[in-house]
Amino acid sequence: MRITVLGSAAGGGFPQWNCNCRNCAGVRNGSVRAKPRTQSSIFVRPDTGADGILFNASPDILAQMRAVPALQPARALRDTAIAGVVLMDGQVDHVTGLFMLRERGTPLPLWCTDPVQDDLTQGNPVLRVLGHYCGVERHAIALNGSAFEVPGTGHLRLHALPLASKAAPYSPNRDRSVPGDNIGMSIVDPATGGRVFYAPGLGEITPEVFEAMAAADVVMVDGTFWTDDEMATQGVGRQRARAIGHLPQSGPGGMLEWLARLPTGTRRLLIHINNTNPILDEDSAERALLEAARVQVCEDGMEIKV
Ligand code: MLT
Ligand code: MN
Ligand code: ZN
Repeated sequence: MRITVLGSAAGGGFPQWNCNCRNCAGVRNGSVRAKPRTQSSIFVRPDTGADGILFNASPDILAQMRAVPALQPARALRDTAIAGVVLMDGQVDHVTGLFMLRERGTPLPLWCTDPVQDDLTQGNPVLRVLGHYCGVERHAIALNGSAFEVPGTGHLRLHALPLASKAAPYSPNRDRSVPGDNIGMSIVDPATGGRVFYAPGLGEITPEVFEAMAAADVVMVDGTFWTDDEMATQGVGRQRARAIGHLPQSGPGGMLEWLARLPTGTRRLLIHINNTNPILDEDSAERALLEAARVQVCEDGMEIKV
């Protein structure tokens, strides 16, 4: 399968519109060597065939589609390579792009869990709004790991895993998580046997999560924060990374320790990177640590073949 990183930043993107933290100011004025990034989303398609799966619909989706010609194969007057959309959660940075798909001629094929469906018809009723445009053909994602497919995508097989993370701030589940608020996804290509584990929002590595990571050829996991208190120490917020459902990379029990335990051949990538994270600075000590640990930082437009 082929994975295109459409957006690699966390909510707000990089630089964030209202932010003058070291990274945001530095990428604007050229004093920090870093690449701007749009909000997190990936497109996955089989090696043969143009159509694929959009994982998350970013607020930046229109710019992402312009930047990646493969998303518009132009086989008809109105066309798209997006065979269906799969949501990992109901967060604003992962669902706002759904509004931008409203010009479709047929209902949008959409896979999400029941709690996310509830959030997207109640607190943030984007699916109800779309009912006044193209409509939505919604499919429930089961949480028992059973395989499903998005028709037309070369039989790529998807298996969801409920994650300990956080529902969106507008959700009634924000402070009492329910299984399915957030999921990770194993994506298997039966043509090649390649397997990816994708989890842009991941608060805790449970035994089930580690098992899914260890079984994958490629892991693309939560790269939001380097430290738990990153937002507080930079003066941009009070909330801690773990409290909002993101396992930081550094420190005891952090993401880097877990990644180091994976089989040697596993390709490790961080995605959904917050604009405060020092790993965005290509000259930072933190980025050098990642390189030494053979952990890559996703960039917009990156192609991964599995
Ligand atoms: C998150 O990943 O914690 C949220 O997307 C943050 C946000 O909505 O800005
Ligand atoms: Mn997010
Ligand atoms: Zn910033």
